[in-house]
Amino acid sequence: MTYHVRPLGPADRQLAWHLGSLAFGYAEQPVPEGWTPDSPGRRVLGVFDPAGRLVAKADDREQGQWFGGRIVPVSGIAGVSTAPELRGRGLARLVLTRLLEGARERGAVISTLFDTTPAPYRALGWEEVGALVHHRVPARVLAEIGPDATTTLRPATEADLPAVSEIYREVARAGSGLMERSGPAFGATPAQVLAAYHGFTVAVDDTGTIAGYASWNRGPGYDANGRLTVDDLIGRTPEATRTLLAMLGAWASVAPTVLIRLGAADPVWSLVARGDAKPESARPWMLRVVDAPGAVAARGWPRHLTGEVDLELSDDVCPWHQGRHRLVLAGGNGRLEPGGEGTVRLAPRGLAAWYAGAGTPQQLRRSGFLTGGDAGTDELLRAATAGPAPTLHDYF
Ligand SMILES: CC(C)(COP(=O)(O)OP(=O)(O)OC[C@H]1O[C@@H](n2cnc3c(N)ncnc32)[C@H](O)[C@@H]1OP(=O)(O)O)[C@@H](O)C(=O)NCCC(=O)NCCS
Repeated sequence: MTYHVRPLGPADRQLAWHLGSLAFGYAEQPVPEGWTPDSPGRRVLGVFDPAGRLVAKADDREQGQWFGGRIVPVSGIAGVSTAPELRGRGLARLVLTRLLEGARERGAVISTLFDTTPAPYRALGWEEVGALVHHRVPARVLAEIGPDATTTLRPATEADLPAVSEIYREVARAGSGLMERSGPAFGATPAQVLAAYHGFTVAVDDTGTIAGYASWNRGPGYDANGRLTVDDLIGRTPEATRTLLAMLGAWASVAPTVLIRLGAADPVWSLVARGDAKPESARPWMLRVVDAPGAVAARGWPRHLTGEVDLELSDDVCPWHQGRHRLVLAGGNGRLEPGGEGTVRLAPRGLAAWYAGAGTPQQLRRSGFLTGGDAGTDELLRAATAGPAPTLHDYF
């Protein structure tokens, strides 16, 4: 059968809503007024059968994620669905392969997604590099953390949001994979940001400077099932972090459980015993390199590391960067030059995990994603992307 692949527009809204809502379980909801499959910063690619039926689709979101202190242009993939009767026949492969071509043309150098199952994406070169985890902490544990006497808490106002964004960005810049919360996917006004939460609390130090914040929602009821869900709790200082945690603890009588989204290296772990915080939910996320020279040029690299490694990339899905490249690192910058001996051979999933800092060369060799090279190339490649574990706090 010959399928036709094209971007979806406003005229396709019924078809796109039907396919997406059926796959993700909201088929009873009518198409919201004004909803269209495409919107600023979001392109949706659809596959049509000869009868004009939409049989598969995938969304390409324009977003940026921080790696090595720089914002890397990303294709965030969402809404991937194939008509139930046609699954397992290569339609997701078709739409995602075409989506990657388009993403590269618009300047995305890597792609990330939250997977419901890794298999179809692994088949196409994505690899799981992290997970967005909500931890369940008894509020009484947090009640044992005393607030700092010089720090005050108050509800945020719209005027506080630039300072709040800067605190988040400071953390994102020093992390691996955190979202840049600007651009078309983050177009909410300050009023809308505040309205999305029951509580948006800022911690203010004794100089009047905002030193941390927490955004949280209060669940229903005040019995044993009462809970608070905390999206961000970020303190720039230990005093801010502990005072915000103490506020959550003070809910113990009516909301005995706190669900809090935390990365593996969050300073909250210096105040909370890991045994007291059980993972409540984990949403894995995957990464793929879309344009290897572009991806190497875009991220930051360790400033004190200088060296070269010859790579050979295999990649049937993104054939444009297949072949031999010399990785050159100097002064915090990296580049891939064409050519070299192809000493270290990387499969797409190996390239993805290495780029994200989610796998050392030795791990990748043991997984079968990296061959060739020696202890010297392993050491350089390991140091090049070593850093905080890849973390993403924004589900999409
Ligand atoms: C996931 C989904 C989009 C896959 O679509 P599809 O058209 O059936 O996938 P394809 O036939 O193109 O398969 C692509 C590759 O993934 C593999 N694959 C697909 N679904 C798989 C599954 N459930 N388990 C294992 N492998 C799978 C195929 O073997 C194929 O690999 P290959 O090309 O190397 O042989 C489809 O099953 C679906 O719509 N599911 C419900 C919604 C959903 O879960 N979407 C994903 C959100 S992240």
